[in-house]
Amino acid sequence: MFRLCPLADIPDNDARGFRSPIGEVIVVRQGLAVFGYLNRCPHIGIGLNFQTDVFMDLTQRYLLCANHGALFRIEDGFCLRGPCHGQSLKQAPLLIEKSIVWLLDT
Ligand code: FES
Repeated sequence: MFRLCPLADIPDNDARGFRSPIGEVIVVRQGLAVFGYLNRCPHIGIGLNFQTDVFMDLTQRYLLCANHGALFRIEDGFCLRGPCHGQSLKQAPLLIEKSIVWLLDT
């Protein structure tokens, strides 16, 4: 397991990026739940964000790829709109233990 951060470091309905042994990981928080994905867009395999820790669309309901506007569901990383429609972000399995977010599978 690889320690990412305290859950409290991620604002609710927002996301943060972390360097990890498997590459940069995006962690989205919704209440006490977290969802993790590799920061690699299925369109052309580059990172989603232009600015540090800016991964959400304006509604904060979807992950946004800033490159060409793809929108991804938070719960499973499925691309709902954009050039990679129908594909998904690669999941990065997470665990919350004692209010710390851990990356599994490392
Ligand atoms: S690189 Fe993400 S939509 Fe094109």
